[in-house]
Amino acid sequence: MPVLSNERVSMTSKRKSIHGQWSSRLAFVLAATGSAVGLGNIWKFPYIAGENGGGAFVLVYLLCIAVIGIPIMMAEVMIGRRGRQSPINTMRTLAEEEHASGHWQWLGWAGVMAGFLILSYYSVIAGWALSYVFRTGSGLFTGLTADGVQSIFSNLVNDPERLLAWHTIFMVMTMVIVARGVRHGLEKAVKLLMPALFVILLVLVGYALNSSGFGQGVSFLFHPDFSKITANGLLIAMGHAFFTLSLGMGAIMVYGSYLPSGASIARTCIAVSLMDTLVALLAGLAIFPIVFANGLEPAAGPGLIFQTLPIAFGHMAYGSFFGMLFFVLLVFAAWSSSISLIEPAVAWLVENKGLSRVHASINAGIATWSFGLLTVLSFNRWSDVKLLSAIEIFKESTIFDLLDYLTANIMLPLGGLLIAIFAARKMSREATVEELGMGDRFFYPLWRFLVRYITPVAVSLVFLYALRDIRLIRTILGVIGIS
Ligand code: PFF
Repeated sequence: MPVLSNERVSMTSKRKSIHGQWSSRLAFVLAATGSAVGLGNIWKFPYIAGENGGGAFVLVYLLCIAVIGIPIMMAEVMIGRRGRQSPINTMRTLAEEEHASGHWQWLGWAGVMAGFLILSYYSVIAGWALSYVFRTGSGLFTGLTADGVQSIFSNLVNDPERLLAWHTIFMVMTMVIVARGVRHGLEKAVKLLMPALFVILLVLVGYALNSSGFGQGVSFLFHPDFSKITANGLLIAMGHAFFTLSLGMGAIMVYGSYLPSGASIARTCIAVSLMDTLVALLAGLAIFPIVFANGLEPAAGPGLIFQTLPIAFGHMAYGSFFGMLFFVLLVFAAWSSSISLIEPAVAWLVENKGLSRVHASINAGIATWSFGLLTVLSFNRWSDVKLLSAIEIFKESTIFDLLDYLTANIMLPLGGLLIAIFAARKMSREATVEELGMGDRFFYPLWRFLVRYITPVAVSLVFLYALRDIRLIRTILGVIGIS
């Protein structure tokens, strides 16, 4: 049940989350970083950068983080902390408080849906990482060539039963932590693991530094060649900024609802975004030199890290140990992200359906697990099922590809756009000044300007530009003169 009254403004300090609160600002930073840093940084960023030509894509992605990502993250955390409930109830309460339409609660629902869809495939990929803990640890890759490593990966993804087993294990792991609740489950899991992940990435970059492909890798990542980026590539870069920062679906909002009142939202969000970006760039720097040194294809797709890093582990001293450690940490990074994907749904089930956290987690987990079967099959038995093959950009897309595209490139940016509109146009200036607590001078007006004008315009333009293949949109663009 929503437990809050809806008196206007100044309710912040009195409002309490029924789910508990982080023990400190640092705990929130760690948890939000835990949510942000995950498969998106280490698995997805390198392969989509590889597929979309490298440098120019990376530049657009970095721009999106700075201009769109950070301001929207602040808006999302702010809304969460002010509402102090699940995103659905927070949106309803704040909309009432600000005399806005009750339909804003649909934004919360869309977020729950996006989290559900993302987790359904996220868990399958996290399952790959889990299986690689054992593969690297047992020395399977020692001395193998690129071909050998590649065939081990193909064997895994071609076997639906194995994928299903790892997907199941990962979902159970996620549900156990979610069931234990904010303080006990979520907070403890990330404190140690984030720094450890960072260190092992540095070790890998050190290895890459000495490989013959380092120069080529660096230039691939940082030398922008704009002829290589397509309109669809722009949308993917923007979508990834949302995905990697966990924005646009209520994950950061629900974490914000557990944030103590006095903590500075701006500083927190900047810290989280910087750490997230650094991890992605380090992952790129570790992976691309290996790609080039071994004559591999940067556009190899979702298998990229599983086909490159094991080559390095197979040839370095103590490679089995480092390899195992790397995949253990990757699993932890994925774990701390997956709990935030399902938290909005679980918080809602507890608030509105009166379920205990344990029951809420089990229900949400079983539903997500079942939907994950689509992804499991899309890598093998159903790899030929191309539902939207009639549309040029989706000609080759499997069910997994479509789910990923729909969520990361459409649902999250759209959710983020609406969050920006709500924060900057529906919430009163006093409410946002009070909640953000950064005074009324330079930084607040800058934030407000960004979320009021820049973010909505940028997101809309990228959408229209990328979707201009669709006839109706081409007509609209023609009418306003940008086609
Ligand atoms: N940010 C996570 C990653 O980069 O792996 C994925 C994610 C988590 C996306 C939570 C969205 C979300 F709400």
